[in-house]
Amino acid sequence: MAGAVLVTGGAGYIGSHACVALIESGHEVVVLDNFCNSHPEAIRRIEEICGVAPVTIQGDIRDRALLDELFSAHNIESVMHFAGLKAVGESVEMPLAYYENNVAGTLTLLQAMDSAALSSIVFSSSATVYGDPASVPINEHFPLAPTSPYGWTKQMLEQVLTDWQRVDDTRRVALLRYFNPAGAHPSGRMGEDPQGPPNNLVPFVAQVAVGKRDKLRVFGDDYPTPDGTGVRDYIHVLDLVDGHVVALDYLQTHPGLHTFNLGTGSGVSVLEMVQAFAAASGRDIPYEVVDRRAGDIAECWADASRARDLLNWEANRDLAQMCEDTWRWQQGNPGGYR
Ligand code: NAD
Ligand code: WQD
Repeated sequence: MAGAVLVTGGAGYIGSHACVALIESGHEVVVLDNFCNSHPEAIRRIEEICGVAPVTIQGDIRDRALLDELFSAHNIESVMHFAGLKAVGESVEMPLAYYENNVAGTLTLLQAMDSAALSSIVFSSSATVYGDPASVPINEHFPLAPTSPYGWTKQMLEQVLTDWQRVDDTRRVALLRYFNPAGAHPSGRMGEDPQGPPNNLVPFVAQVAVGKRDKLRVFGDDYPTPDGTGVRDYIHVLDLVDGHVVALDYLQTHPGLHTFNLGTGSGVSVLEMVQAFAAASGRDIPYEVVDRRAGDIAECWADASRARDLLNWEANRDLAQMCEDTWRWQQGNPGGYR
């Protein structure tokens, strides 16, 4: 029987949805998570949805001894690597914590994979590696120019993985550059569970809709966009994780390094998101326009044709579904997993 997939960060927002998608497509899953930004209840919800609990190890990707033990105890065939810190603003305040966790952690993971002769990894990169793009849509050949320590960790790790793959042509690496993940599992049982005030638009809007926050602050309405507010490519987390499952399959037959944008290919403004969420929830979303947020760009959306052509993958869930699923999760779990 084929070996299991090690999912690092498998209790997190995207990782937990990936566990469900992997289990539903017949994979055995082992989760490694230190729960620094997640809760063990997420693992229980995976079991609730799938009827099977992934083997779960509480631990850190920087713990080499633990990784060696894990690889010898379990028949792991490939790795989906989600574990990492992801708050852009916090990374500016605490760059060393980000380089340590994300970069040093991934180096340790790769060293342990080498020792265990593992050659296949799917890596969570981000559209943040493109920085402020010269034009949209953004394809995979655009220059990389991250603007935060967080973004630099992603660019550095893309380079590390590129060099690691070059050593041995049987190695397989997928660099998946996500645009803006949003939405939740349609069951309403699994979703994004930010600690403290959300940094990202969709979870913030959801908390306004449910009455947990009194209003949204719209960061600027003087961008050169149709309504003046920032435009992003929001992708349903279920489409995103489906992209991971097909990328993993692709690696089976295509050794080498492969980079894919995972986005929908179209942009949505802040005010369009507010409107769509109000429609999905039937609630008012009060907002006020405030100054631009430092470091924000006007617009960003993907040219996702490479993933369509090579992986036969396309995002097919629309904005309404993204908002409805987020709303179901938010309403049913106003305190998240806690
Ligand atoms: P998340 O914080 O919900 O999940 C990350 C998980 O990794 C958490 O469960 C956390 O506890 C765990 N973790 C962190 N450091 C660890 C360590 N050293 N050892 C073990 N576990 C550790 O974040 P997410 O939104 O699910 O993001 C997953 C990945 O996708 C991250 O690498 C992130 O940078 C990347 N990404 C996220 C977005 C986004 O907007 N959510 C966009 C692009 C890329
Ligand atoms: C979206 C739009 C804001 C909050 C970030 C990271 C990126 C990636 C995804 C990991 C922008 C506006 C937001 C609010 C607002 N993560 N906004 N009020 O900035 O595109 O990307 O998350 O890799 O690296 O930078 O996403 O959801 O924060 O913002 O007006 O309270 O919503 O200005 O136009 P962003 P976001």
